[in-house]
Amino acid sequence: MSKSTYEFILTRLDGRVGIVQFNRPQALNALNREMMAEAIDALERFDADPEIGCLLLTGSERAFAAGADIKQMAEATPVTMLDNPFIDYWDRLRRISKPVVAAVSGFALGGGCELAMACDMIVASESARLGQPEINLGVIPGAGGTQRMARAVGKVLAMEIVLNGRLLTAEEARHYGLVNRVVPTELYLEEAIKFAAEIAARAPVALRLGKEAVNAAFETTLQAGLAYERRLFYMLFATEDQKEGMDAFVNKRPAVWKGR
Ligand code: CAA
Repeated sequence: MSKSTYEFILTRLDGRVGIVQFNRPQALNALNREMMAEAIDALERFDADPEIGCLLLTGSERAFAAGADIKQMAEATPVTMLDNPFIDYWDRLRRISKPVVAAVSGFALGGGCELAMACDMIVASESARLGQPEINLGVIPGAGGTQRMARAVGKVLAMEIVLNGRLLTAEEARHYGLVNRVVPTELYLEEAIKFAAEIAARAPVALRLGKEAVNAAFETTLQAGLAYERRLFYMLFATEDQKEGMDAFVNKRPAVWKGR
C-alpha cells in the first residue's frame, strides 16, 4: 500500500503530531476492511517516523466511527473470519509504540468505541456518544469491547453497556474514566491536536517506555509490574535525554530532546 493511494482516510502532519482521519462520512465512518487497512498502515508509518512524537486518530464531527461495517460483515461465517482476520487491525493498533490519542466526536460505537479504547488517551467532543450496541445485532463486541470497557468503567456499568446497548455521553465517559477530557464540539479537533502536541514535545524514549509500563499494569501482577517499571526506569539512565533533562533542570533552561 502506498500513502498516495489511500482512498478512505486522510493523513497530515501538524508539527510533531501525525494525524489519521477516517473519511467515509456517508457511512458514518463504518469501519470496512479497506479503511482499517489504510488507517493502520498510516499509523504504522507515522510510528516509524522519528520526526513524529504522537499520533492522533480521528473521524468527523458527526461520527468518529459507527462500528464495524455491518453490510460487509453480515454474510461472514466463523471460517471467513478466521481466514481473514479483520479484528487483527485492532491488535496492530495496540502494538504502536508511540502515544496514540483518539479525537472522538459524535458516534463512537461498536468497533469504533473499541478503536478509541485501543488508543492510549481520548479527547471527546461534547457531542460524543460511546458504546457497544452489538447486542442489537444479535452479537457481542469482538474487538476488545467487553475487556477494555470493563477495565475502564468497572463491571456493572460495562454489563449495562454490553448487555443493554447503553450509550455513554461524553460527560459520563469522562466521569467514569473512559475519556481524558471533554471539549466544545466546534473546537474538538483543535483541542485534541493541542493535547497531542504537548505529548509530542516530550522525550521520545521516555514516552515509549512510559506507555509500555502503563500498559504492563493491565497484564501483570503488581510485583511483576513494579519490577518491570524499575528496569525501564534504570534503562532510561542510559539515554542522552536523561542527562539532558536533568542538566536542563539543574541549569534552569529548557531541555532539548534528541530521542536517544
Ligand atoms: N455499518 C455499515 N453502515 C453503517 C453503519 C455500520 N456500522 N453505521 C451507519 N451506517 C450507514 C447507514 O447504513 C446509513 O447508510 P445509508 O444512507 O446508505 O442507508 C448511513 O451510515 C447513515 O446512518 P443512519 O441513517 O442509520 O444514521 P442515523 O443518524 O439515523 O443513525 C446510528 C446513526 C445510530 C449510528 C446508526 O447508524 C446505527 O445504529 N449504526 C450502527 C451502529 C452499530 O451497531 N455498530 C456496531 C457494529 S458491529 C461491530 O462493531 C462489531 C465489533 O465489535 C467489531
